Amino acid sequence: MKTMTLTMPLDMHVHLRDGEMLETVAPLTSYSFSGALVMPNLVPPVTTLDMVRGYKKRIQAAMESDDFEPYMTLFYQNYSRSFLEEVKDHIIAIKLYPSGVTTNSEGGVASFDIEAMRETLEAMSDLGIILSVHGETNGFVMDREAEFMSVYEMLAVHFPKLKIIMEHITTREAVKMLDQYENLYATITVHHLMITLDDVAGGMLRPHLFCKPIAKRPHDREALLKVALSAHPKVMFGSDSAPHPKHTKESCGCGAGVFTAPIALQLLCEIFEANDSLDNLQAFVSDNAQQIYGICPDFKEVVLVKHDFVIPEMYGSVVPMRAGETLTWSIERVD
Ligand code: NCD
Ligand code: ZN
Repeated sequence: MKTMTLTMPLDMHVHLRDGEMLETVAPLTSYSFSGALVMPNLVPPVTTLDMVRGYKKRIQAAMESDDFEPYMTLFYQNYSRSFLEEVKDHIIAIKLYPSGVTTNSEGGVASFDIEAMRETLEAMSDLGIILSVHGETNGFVMDREAEFMSVYEMLAVHFPKLKIIMEHITTREAVKMLDQYENLYATITVHHLMITLDDVAGGMLRPHLFCKPIAKRPHDREALLKVALSAHPKVMFGSDSAPHPKHTKESCGCGAGVFTAPIALQLLCEIFEANDSLDNLQAFVSDNAQQIYGICPDFKEVVLVKHDFVIPEMYGSVVPMRAGETLTWSIERVD
């Protein structure tokens, strides 16, 4: 039977939440990944060293394996250099949210005033802390990411030594930026490699495919597939797996977020196999991220096999993407 072995897979953008939800989702990510970049958009957001330490401990307590590294982040605010010096060994990135553009981002940045941000961004640049960015304006929903490109350009030019990650890119405009600025990198989700806006809202509304940034047009998905399948050295996998309880998704006022953590590697195998690119999957799910972030996760091997896997209807209170459907790859074992 056809198998695929992935060494030290990494999910460089995941929402693990807290409390009961953390208990449900942390073991799913820690089972199949060696490490993950944990988003800080809790309520209240993670903004102090004590909060980082406390959250990391709660994640480790909720995991079912000890061969998983939660790479921690802070929620962007204008921090002082002395604070960043104190916190730098406990985080690897700071996540910047424009205010109000997605789930729990109300405390984010209201205006991109370079001078106001200079102390923080220069200190991050000097200390090797990566800036991870949710790149959307509050414009028309299909244009939000493309409109944000001018902010990326401004950041990339003013802080040329700062590594900037364009998180969960969804457009050909963002893909283009990768080759234009040396210090811009990107994560790509598995769902944005699969769906367009048509899948979300073209027929009956499918709340479990609704996320920020919203899935875009076929030509955008093609552009994402091109750089993911070729494992462009500046792109890496970040699931943006974002669990919301079923009743808040299947409701009037559905929260944004697609839950993919337990099926991400199986889906990636399907996509890369269908495009004759399985040889590049290792770089996309691990090697590129190790290079970009300069991290060295503990050894773990995930063996996938070409064997049907029926996606459960629910994981705890959460409905995963493609619930009840059959995948052609499954995880055989983790060593
Ligand atoms: C994320 C969440 O639910 O926290 N939602 C989403 O649609 N991706 C936040 C985010 O990453 O935008
Ligand atoms: Zn996210």
